[in-house]
Amino acid sequence: MDISSHAFSKFDKHLSIFKDVPVRFLEVGSYRGVSAQYLLDNFLTHPESHLDIIEPCHQPSPYSVGDNNKTLIDNLQAYPNVNIITKKSRYMGALEEDTYDFVYLDGSHKNPFVLEDCISAFHVLKIGGLCGIDDHSHYFIEVIQNVNIFTLLYQSYIDIVAVESLDHTPGSIIQLWFRKTKRPLDY
Ligand SMILES: C[S@@+](CC[C@H](N)C(=O)[O-])C[C@H]1O[C@@H](n2cnc3c(N)ncnc32)[C@H](O)[C@@H]1O
Repeated sequence: MDISSHAFSKFDKHLSIFKDVPVRFLEVGSYRGVSAQYLLDNFLTHPESHLDIIEPCHQPSPYSVGDNNKTLIDNLQAYPNVNIITKKSRYMGALEEDTYDFVYLDGSHKNPFVLEDCISAFHVLKIGGLCGIDDHSHYFIEVIQNVNIFTLLYQSYIDIVAVESLDHTPGSIIQLWFRKTKRPLDY
């Protein structure tokens, strides 16, 4: 099983509505593009659909041993509807607000970046847009802590759509999904 495969059944569950519809997705943290390829092949199927990726590092890592060892750019070069932004997630602050139908967060798993990423993802999402946060799991306790702070602060502006686990045992890999429901007034 690829390290990304656990996410795919959750993608199928939440993202099938976007198939053959013109939509814009953002992925933060793509590594070699396995999850990005799945999003492109299965949901970004309309000719006007588009994927932006924020990923600072394109080099194969030790995870690649025994795998095809291809880079993110190698794996995605056949797709005309992808834009790879070689920056850290803080670059989300430079993106237009209310832009994306779906944001997938799978970048830094550390304090305080997960919180920053959740907040930035919220702002770049359209109202009604979905965000999936990967590794909301006891293996990544800082992800849980940061997401808890985010969901507390933004509770009036989001719906928690799902907390997903593989097999319902504590510690199995989990994602949290939320929907942006309204924009906060900043005065
Ligand atoms: C778990 S991997 C992503 C796996 C990919 N989503 C998949 O399922 O195929 C995490 C990636 O996040 C990237 N990353 C780490 N910190 C980041 C940050 N601050 N901003 C954006 N990406 C970051 C790493 O370079 C790494 O490639």
